[in-house]
Formats: sequence, structure tokens, C-alpha cells
Amino acid sequence: MTADEIRRIFLEFMAERGHIVIPRAPLIPKDDPTTLFTGSGMQPLLPYLLGADHPAGARLADSQTCLRVQDIEEVGDNRHTTFFEMLGNWSLGDYFKQEQIPQVWTFLTEKVGLDPARIYVSCFSGDPENGIPKDDESAAIWTGLFEKAGISSAQVDLGTEEHAAAVGTDGARIAFYGKKNWWCRGGKAEDMPVGEPGGPDTEIFYLFPTVEHDPAYGRHCHQNCDCGRFIELGNSVFMEYRRTESGFEPLPRRNVDYGGGLARIAAAAMDTPDVFRIGLLWPIIERLQELSGKTYEDETRAMRVIADHLRGATFLAVDGVQPGNKAQGYVMRRLIRRAVRFAFELGLEENFFPQIIPTIAGIYEAHFPEVAEHAEYVERILVKEEQAFRRTLRKGLKQLNAYRATGVTGQELFVLYDTYGFPVELSTEEAERKGIAVSAGWQAEFDEQMAAQRARSQHPVPHT
Ligand code: ALA
Repeated sequence: MTADEIRRIFLEFMAERGHIVIPRAPLIPKDDPTTLFTGSGMQPLLPYLLGADHPAGARLADSQTCLRVQDIEEVGDNRHTTFFEMLGNWSLGDYFKQEQIPQVWTFLTEKVGLDPARIYVSCFSGDPENGIPKDDESAAIWTGLFEKAGISSAQVDLGTEEHAAAVGTDGARIAFYGKKNWWCRGGKAEDMPVGEPGGPDTEIFYLFPTVEHDPAYGRHCHQNCDCGRFIELGNSVFMEYRRTESGFEPLPRRNVDYGGGLARIAAAAMDTPDVFRIGLLWPIIERLQELSGKTYEDETRAMRVIADHLRGATFLAVDGVQPGNKAQGYVMRRLIRRAVRFAFELGLEENFFPQIIPTIAGIYEAHFPEVAEHAEYVERILVKEEQAFRRTLRKGLKQLNAYRATGVTGQELFVLYDTYGFPVELSTEEAERKGIAVSAGWQAEFDEQMAAQRARSQHPVPHT
């Protein structure tokens, strides 16, 4: 089953269960200066999760395009991407755990056809400090589902991921974690601003038995281990709390916020842990193989980075962003420049974006026709940046190499940024790759130079 089919089946399945399918929101949140990008399906629905009535009702579903750049340097492994689609469904004060957990189980096991015996889950072990109880209810619902399928449903209380790695799970199907199973934007309960909604979640993982546990990630494997043996397919947030000055209070309504990674579910359906093998990414990889004459097996990381970054930059352009020196524009610039830099590794030293953008438009033609509609415009925007950066990339790389013997300081990183247009993260990453030392205090030096330049020119500060 392809990713396109899974998206369609999910939306139909949700519609059959009374959900109204809503269109994706742009990658740039509207009226929300607190965050640069739409990073989850719930973000455009924030006012409704806080209690406002949604015009389409209390049951909603969509496939939301998201961008998360916090993990940009992890792109290159088999499952991290900056751009992704999140299949989402919401109950705004309507059904709760009893209906939602069996619903997602049916979707994954019956509609997508995943092997129930390879599904593992996690639940919230409670937050006594804030008076939030352990989520035994979700665990009991999972137990019922596993037992009905003839699957063992042992539970284990792990608390932290560190503890989990130290003691292991003994194969337990349901693992309880603390902070890891609290969901809010930004990730941590203690960092939530007053008024922010959040709640316990239950996360769903798929086991890839052919992936051996890598002890570099800890002694024992467990649901949240990063070795790649378990891949998280999605999670159901039981969004029923709001942060107050002194702790948490219940929201006016108990909501469900489900998010499933379309690419990961599609990879699981293909029985591969590599999300780049699915139909939303593989055609880009194939194109890169043709253009470079190199193989994915030999150039895995570079091809993954280019495919992910160009797809993200394409959607940013479709949603009205242009490369620039601040905020969203700076991130877009960084994606494009990283793609160009990795393309150098493939020997693609001439402009190649025009060969890739039509492939991306083709991939999304059926579900997001706006990409094909804007393809010419996207090409213009991206190619302009590609050309400009290519001209300076060689010089910049040469300059960075000149620091091989001495190491590079924050001031020199600023020159690379200012003169050669090297985003500072790109310089530090490149330096690390080449074994060029970066001075310990580089960040402060860099920031100082940046502030001085800003004062001189009144230019805004780059901000990711
Ligand atoms: N809001 C939840 C997430 O983004 C579903 O993972």
C-alpha cells in the first residue's frame, strides 16, 4: 500500500466515523508569532483545543504538512525528515480514549494491514508533583485489544528513557514512561507557557525485528530507544489540561489529538525502516541517482538530505516564503544551501533544482495540486538561491579549509556568514566533518559580531 493510498484510506476512514476532513494549513502559522512553522497537526487548531467551537464541528481530520527543523542534523538517518505529513484526527470534547484507541488500532491493523504482533505502545506513568495520575485507562484499553488479537500484553514501568535503557523491558508490550509521554508544543511540561494546553499521550511503535539493537544507544532496547529497531508511528494525545501559574487545570473540554507520521506508516506497510523508500521520497532519490550517476547505497546520507531539504523548501515556497536573512526565510535559505552543499558530494556542481522540482510536483499532484500549480514560481525562487549560493560555495569551502591548521574562531565564522553567505550551522557542521577545530567561545564571538553588524546596518537578526 502506497503513502497516497494510506492518506486516502485514513481520511475516508475518519469521514466514515463522522469526522469532517479539513484542508492542510500553510507551513507558516497564521496569527501565531510564538512559532515559526506549523510543526504538528494540532497547531492550526489551537483555539479549538482551548475551547472555541470549530465551525466544522467536534470531529475533524486532515493530513497536515509540517516542518520541524530542530532535528535538521539528524536528517540522513533512515527516518528523520524536516518536512513531513501528519495524519491527524481530533475530538474536540466528543469521544475520548475508549473510542480513540480502538479506532487507531483498527486503522493500522485492518485498514493499513500492519502486523498487530509488531505493534508496541507506551503510556504515561503520571506526574505526582502536578497531581496528574498514571494513565491506567489507556493501558487497559490496549490490553483488551492485544488480548483479543491473541498477543501478550505485559506492562512495564520505566519512568525515564535512561532507566529503560539500563533495565530493559523484557519484551513488554505496554511501557510506561513519565515526561516522555506528556505531550505539549515545545515538548516539556516545565517549559509550557501559562495557558498552553497539553496532556498525557499514548505512543504507538512498530518493531523492525531485522534491525539489531545498537548498544551505542544504551544497554537494552525499549520502545523509545533511538537505535531504529522500534519506530514511532504516531501518538494520541489526551489533551485535557492547561498550564496555570501554579500547575495545571482541566481544559473546558477533554480533547483527543491524534497524529500519525504518514511516511513512517507507509514505510511500515512496505516493511522497511527506511522512510526514503516510500513513494513520497523515492522518486526524488531515483532522480538524484540518474543525475549524479551514483547509487543510493553509496551516497545514502547526501541523497536523503537533498531529497528532504528540497521538498521542504518547495513547500515553503508554495506557502509564500522566500529565502532571506531572518525567521522562516533564514530556515528556507539554510535548507537550500545545505542541499547545494550535499549535492557537491554527489558531484552535482551545476544547477540541478530544475530537474527535481517537477518530480516533487508530480509526487503531490493528486493530494496537494498547489505544488504543481506553483511549480514555475517555486523553481524561480529556488534556482535564484541555488545560483547565488553555488557561486560562493567554492570560495567559502576553500576559506574554511584555510583554517584547517589553526581552527576557526567565532569571528571567522561570522566572516564566512557575512561574506560567503554560509549559515553558521553549515560552517560548524562542515568544520566538524572535516575535523577543523571550532573555538570554544565561538558562539559568543559570533553573536557579538552579529550584534555589531546589526547596529551598523539595522538588519534583523537571523533566527531559527
Ligand atoms: N500533536 C501530537 C504530535 O504532534 C499528535 O505528535
